[in-house]
Amino acid sequence: MRIAVVGGTGTIGSAIVKELASDAEVLVAGRSAARDLHIDITSEESIESFFKAHGSSLDHVVVACGDVSFAPLDKLNSDLFRVGFNSKFLGQVNVVRIGSKYMRNGTGFTLMSGILSLHTVKASSAAAPINAAIESFAKASSLELLERGIRVNVIAPCLVSESAAAYGPFFQGFIPLPAATIAKTYRRSVYGGITGETLYILGGEGQYVLKH
Ligand SMILES: NC(=O)c1ccc[n+]([C@@H]2O[C@H](COP(=O)([O-])OP(=O)(O)OC[C@H]3O[C@@H](n4cnc5c(N)ncnc54)[C@H](OP(=O)(O)O)[C@@H]3O)[C@@H](O)[C@H]2O)c1
Repeated sequence: MRIAVVGGTGTIGSAIVKELASDAEVLVAGRSAARDLHIDITSEESIESFFKAHGSSLDHVVVACGDVSFAPLDKLNSDLFRVGFNSKFLGQVNVVRIGSKYMRNGTGFTLMSGILSLHTVKASSAAAPINAAIESFAKASSLELLERGIRVNVIAPCLVSESAAAYGPFFQGFIPLPAATIAKTYRRSVYGGITGETLYILGGEGQYVLKH
């Protein structure tokens, strides 16, 4: 199994790399030259050259990056909405759309959303819908890619313990989990045979599901 983790040096990405590397060849991909492989998901040219060079040799691509804006509704503007659209949404869409042309049949993608699509918080009016859009994209695109046995799933992590100092004030009442625990869920997408699914990691011992 040869897996590329885009954003593999990040808080969640580095834990995914560590988890998957125990029994697979894992390549760290990202924007900076220090990575094994170079890719910037905000550039179609970069995605195209990444997959042209490496796509046919990869069994699975995990994306663990994508920027979104956090701000109260009355401070948001179109540019702040476009941050998430261009980076986290269109970036991941283009990884699948362009990457699937080069990937072999029977391979797969695991994309990144976040718990905000299920449990919104204040200041998430720009971030939450981006997560929901990625989940919807995975569901729709997997219908067509299934013909080639290419799978597309999404992981929606809860607040990560390592990020709690930075994001905790937004996430009152959420019990974070260590990135290493979240990373274990990636095995379900990479090896579990599922497609079009979003795996929600609800949080620590206080996890709950809201029924609307
Ligand atoms: N942290 C949390 O609590 C949490 C919870 C739920 C969901 N999420 C989501 O998980 C994702 C990652 O979060 P994180 O906290 O792990 O982020 P992070 O620590 O900032 O790491 C981001 C990683 O992605 C790479 N990267 C950034 N932009 C890129 C681009 N355009 N193309 C390729 N690589 C890029 C970065 O490396 P380079 O700068 O070298 O490219 C870095 O390795 C985000 O989409 C976030 O919304 C995070």
